[in-house]
Amino acid sequence: MLKFEFPATSKTLSDESPSVPISKLKPQTHGQVLCYPGKDLGTFSQRSKQLKEMGVKDIIFEGSSKVGNLGVIGKGCVSVVLKATLKGSDDIIALKCRRVDANRPTMKRDFELQKLANSFGVGPKAISATDDFFAMEFVDSIKIGKWLEKLKTRSSKKFLRKLIRDSLTQCFLLDQHGLDHGELSNPTKHILIRRDESRNLLPKVVIIDYESAGIGRKVSNLTSVASFFFLGGWQTDKIKRILAIPKGKAKMIALLKKYKKRPSPESFKKLMAYVRC
Ligand SMILES: Nc1ncnc2c1ncn2[C@@H]1O[C@H](COP(=O)(O)OP(=O)(O)O)[C@@H](O)[C@H]1O
Ligand SMILES: [Mg+2]
Repeated sequence: MLKFEFPATSKTLSDESPSVPISKLKPQTHGQVLCYPGKDLGTFSQRSKQLKEMGVKDIIFEGSSKVGNLGVIGKGCVSVVLKATLKGSDDIIALKCRRVDANRPTMKRDFELQKLANSFGVGPKAISATDDFFAMEFVDSIKIGKWLEKLKTRSSKKFLRKLIRDSLTQCFLLDQHGLDHGELSNPTKHILIRRDESRNLLPKVVIIDYESAGIGRKVSNLTSVASFFFLGGWQTDKIKRILAIPKGKAKMIALLKKYKKRPSPESFKKLMAYVRC
């Protein structure tokens, strides 16, 4: 007799599921993430309450980083980022969870500045925030730093050109709106490259993490990222070779100086023409 063997009982499956409804979150299991780094769980119940207020349905402990045996999307100096869902939708969102040892009292500033970036089409879409959490669009992506590590001289010129054009255009938009990101001199972790539904990479980027951003100060988004690509970044030589940009820095430095002095569509266009993007 042929018999179908179920691979596991439903109990085992649900036990192993990375998705946990917020009513099932337990301090002894999930406190290490929700109150990261997990030595002080004193705010656990307060944090659970905030998740409820925000309408979070499930937390999905899945991602390439780990906290103990639980998967997370990423860890930063201020937060741990988790996958989650909101009530009434199955769409995955990214939930930034303030570290207990963070040097910031609230996630609301990060949220407000990202909403400002959203108003001109930059950054993951901000959804809501409390003191300890910030819900936003989840961007299926890889970090530009990781992608650049694998860059080869024979890599696609067309893709690289579009990727750099998109990165610099978004930096220009940030500059034009007076929003200085503050952490783009090494953008390896703060520029993400989007994937499509089949997880293929698109030449489209998303600039994340506005917690160090500011308005009303000198902006240096474009000059920082352009310097990283074309002056002092560790893949500068390869990028210039692929895009057939002349060796030597003098012309590039002069164009950046001009832009810095007068950040305008004209000085931006001149720079883009020189880097063939
Ligand atoms: N909206 C998002 N979608 C996908 N991954 C994200 C998102 N936001 C953050 N991440 C991941 O989480 C990591 C940490 O996020 P980040 O905003 O830099 O935190 P921090 O403010 O603590 O530095 C990022 O490097 C990235 O890998
Ligand atoms: Mg960060």
